[in-house]
Amino acid sequence: MAVADESHQVFQTIRTILAVRSYRDQQIPEDSLHRILEAGRLTASAQNRQPWHFIVIEEKETLRKLGEWSSYGPYIAEAAAAIIVAVKPGRNASTDAARAIQSMVLQAWSEGIGSNWVGPNGLEPAKAFLGIPDEIEIVATVPLGYPAQEIGKGIKNRKPLREIAHRERWDEAWNELD
Ligand SMILES: Cc1cc2nc3c(=O)[nH]c(=O)nc-3n(C[C@H](O)[C@H](O)[C@H](O)COP(=O)(O)O)c2cc1C
Repeated sequence: MAVADESHQVFQTIRTILAVRSYRDQQIPEDSLHRILEAGRLTASAQNRQPWHFIVIEEKETLRKLGEWSSYGPYIAEAAAAIIVAVKPGRNASTDAARAIQSMVLQAWSEGIGSNWVGPNGLEPAKAFLGIPDEIEIVATVPLGYPAQEIGKGIKNRKPLREIAHRERWDEAWNELD
């Protein structure tokens, strides 16, 4: 299916990115971390409110604690770094944060760095531990690290376009390219 070639860099990143939950023991260079944060910062938000805060964790002991507390992301403990994305709750704040997270994970992947979205369940103790103010809500933690296994061949478990895309009308399915 000829939908992209090497010049479609954004599409190639989206096509190949997968959730990465195990990481090599290898530090992330400071300039990569900086670009990942910049990708979040530069993201558009509703009325340009930019409600997000990004707390970067690299201390091994803190990563271990986050992994222990996190209900759905024990593997944060093995990550080279993690970015906690938090917002002051408000209209569109979590949507804005989701977009910033997507920018960051795509930027990371384009540099060969794996990541994932880990929900905030279980992280209540992290707020006090990290000095996050009461009125600020954790949206997600994004663990980062070079993938332990070679993955990302673009093989994804997704619904086909004809099931979810429509042409002009609901009852007209989008046809796949041959
Ligand atoms: C909003 C959202 C919440 C997610 N929460 C978690 C989570 O708490 N823990 C986890 O391991 N993965 C989580 N994921 C990762 C998804 O399970 C994963 O992206 C999905 O199963 C598709 O797999 P793939 O990204 O490898 O194609 C989350 C992803 C999204 C977008």
